[in-house]
Amino acid sequence: MIAIEQVGKRYGEGAAAVEALREVTLAIPAGQFVSVMGPSGCGKSTLLNLIAGLDQPTRGRVLIDMQDLAQLSNDERSDLRLHRIGLVFQSFNLFPTFTVEENVATPLEFLGVRWNDARERARRVLARVGIATSTHGRRPSELSGGEQQRTAIARALVTEPAILLADEPTGNLDTRTGQSVLDLIRELNRTEKLTVILATHSTVAATYGHRTIEISDGTVVHDVEAPRRPVLRLAADYE
Ligand SMILES: Nc1ncnc2c1ncn2[C@@H]1O[C@H](COP(=O)(O)OP(=O)(O)O)[C@@H](O)[C@H]1O
Ligand SMILES: [Mg+2]
Repeated sequence: MIAIEQVGKRYGEGAAAVEALREVTLAIPAGQFVSVMGPSGCGKSTLLNLIAGLDQPTRGRVLIDMQDLAQLSNDERSDLRLHRIGLVFQSFNLFPTFTVEENVATPLEFLGVRWNDARERARRVLARVGIATSTHGRRPSELSGGEQQRTAIARALVTEPAILLADEPTGNLDTRTGQSVLDLIRELNRTEKLTVILATHSTVAATYGHRTIEISDGTVVHDVEAPRRPVLRLAADYE
């Protein structure tokens, strides 16, 4: 479903050029939960941005459902993103002046859904990610970090995407809250058959996937599929 073929990405030119990805080839079937691991600067966000069509590779091709993203116009790429992909980031990127419900309903406006219907769908998705009705009218600044990230996940899911790209989604959360967000993502993968690509530098977070891809300096150095097992939680993770 997602095919990354000999993809390279260089930022900048000449002596200042950075090879963020060197030659990455991956096939990610629909419904898989992939953890992309590696230290800061190894190329995780670059990879996710290329899959989202937010940036274009210097070499190679990225295909989603057999469609080469480079063959699409900017509008077609935005359209594909809007319909097929949900994005979640480390910083929650919620609109500060909108309520929780308005934040989640907003992507549906771009799809032409009537505002009342959009809000109704937003409420349903918020319930799905565990945000209580009493919270729907609050602004993001009145939420805990975990609630903000759940709201951001609801916003990513309200359009019913097939693919969730989560870039360090627990990076701003304490360990326990982070685990509850990862539990939620795993549950959504299981119940909604959502394809998940989770970028993380945490080894604990990486155990949530079916498959762990490790990147070092722009190259895939490990790619292992693991049977799903209970997540090992270290005592130290709780404090
Ligand atoms: N827009 C950009 N312009 C120049 N260099 C960039 C840009 N984005 C990322 N890089 C560089 O590319 C490399 C990979 O970055 P990134 O994909 O953000 O890594 P990660 O998400 O794993 O921390 C790093 O060396 C980073 O400094
Ligand atoms: Mg990153």
